[in-house]
Amino acid sequence: MKTSSVLLAAASAVSALPGMGGIHSREDTLRMLTEARDAEQLEKRQGLGGIVGGLLDAVTGLLGSVAASVDPDNKRPEPGYKFIAPKPTDSRGPCLALNLLANYGYLPRDGYVKFGQVVDATSRGFNMGTDLSSLLLVFTVLTNTLNITTESFYLGTDASNHVGGLNRHDTVECEISPNKEDYYLGCGDNHHISSRLFKQNVGYAAQDPNKEFSLDTMAAQYAESASFSQKYNPFLYYFPFPSIVSLGAFAFYPNFFSNGTYRAGGVANYESVSSIIGAKLDKKSGDFIYVPERWPKNWYRRSTPYGIIPALTDILALGTDNLTPQTILCDVYDGINSVTPLALGGALEDGAATISWALNKLVDVGISKTALGCPVCNLSPNLNLYPNKKKKGGKLNLPKSQYKGTGNNVYNKVYFKDAPTQPMCQHSFNP
Ligand code: HEM
Ligand SMILES: *[C@@H]1O[C@H](CO)[C@@H](O)[C@H](O)[C@H]1NC(C)=O
Ligand SMILES: *[C@@H]1O[C@H](CO)[C@@H](O)[C@H](O)[C@H]1NC(C)=O
Repeated sequence: MKTSSVLLAAASAVSALPGMGGIHSREDTLRMLTEARDAEQLEKRQGLGGIVGGLLDAVTGLLGSVAASVDPDNKRPEPGYKFIAPKPTDSRGPCLALNLLANYGYLPRDGYVKFGQVVDATSRGFNMGTDLSSLLLVFTVLTNTLNITTESFYLGTDASNHVGGLNRHDTVECEISPNKEDYYLGCGDNHHISSRLFKQNVGYAAQDPNKEFSLDTMAAQYAESASFSQKYNPFLYYFPFPSIVSLGAFAFYPNFFSNGTYRAGGVANYESVSSIIGAKLDKKSGDFIYVPERWPKNWYRRSTPYGIIPALTDILALGTDNLTPQTILCDVYDGINSVTPLALGGALEDGAATISWALNKLVDVGISKTALGCPVCNLSPNLNLYPNKKKKGGKLNLPKSQYKGTGNNVYNKVYFKDAPTQPMCQHSFNP
């Protein structure tokens, strides 16, 4: 069966389902989101992360859960793939999974990667479905490549630091990430692990019945961070594709970082998650140091591919009212047609050729407009997608100082001890 028709059927079915194998019903999710937004609870939970003793207790309480069953063939890394910490000249950015794969040589260690290499590496290292990786990559190449012929891009930033690379904002990279700050609030730093956000996440994992980075844990993390961004980030916007990536990233935590297969005996335990995302607890200060992404010892990837269908299912379970099967499906497709000149990468002035390249890539994995059945393009290609774009610090008026934060990852440091509540680089960068 074609991926796309399955996708459509699955998506329309999801909103009607009361809950599937541990996934929330929509009602439950909405209730949870509302609860998490409650101001009193919010403060209580933020407080939890702030106290060193509380954090140590929380972390200690999270240790020791092991997978009920693992398949030896899925042990990663495989023989011949060795961890080597990246050199400062190696390009590393916001996607900790791709960073990790480059740290082991599943991707070129210098971080300049090609479409096909990433499809292979993400499948082999994490069992990401090739439909899902292709979809992510189409948008990535569309907006971040420096060379459409080679379909290649940097995991972090290109040499000029300004255009290209996954660090590039508002294209695939987006606001409200699980454990990275918003681009504007973070003064261009959308790519280092934020200590205060991971503390918040650990706090929610400690409240999880199984002490895991479960989908519930990540839904609570999303709800709190979304309300934080709504409150403090004047440039928050909802270009559909990045919004989907954002929600997808939350679902990726349990589904890809679990030791073993999530919902089939695998555990999204602290040992696995903290190591893979590169968050190392400094017991003295109670802050998390960002270290190179690495698999923990004895780690097993999921045994079945996680592709577009399960991702969409989880995204819907996580999502708010703004997202419905219809908007997701049509936005994904129409997003391509509506990529604005502002969003296109430096090498891609020829919009028409680029877009047909992108659409053909999707046809390869079974996604096409007809199959999706999207009646109208509900997004027009205009620049009004970006709120307050001319305001100082906005999309069209970026302060020079933001570039301080846009380079490749620098490891072995603590980033964001405290929440950045002021955009436009008014807080001190590199605390
Ligand atoms: C296949 C190609 C992929 C591309 C092009 C890609 C791209 C990206 C980008 C641009 C971001 C930043 C988004 C943001 O601002 O939140 C990101 C974040 C993320 N990616 Fe990937 N990614 C890919 C594969 C993967 C895989 C295989 C995994 C999991 C095994 C993964 C897990 C994540 C997670 C969890 C985040 C959020 C990081 C955080 O804030 O905690 N990605 N990715
Ligand atoms: C993963 O699960 C296996 C099987 O239970 C266990 O032996 C191993 O220690 C676990 N690894 C991690 C990092 O949790
Ligand atoms: C892109 O890569 C191709 C193949 O390596 C090369 O011939 C071409 O000059 C490159 N284009 C740019 C703009 O760098």
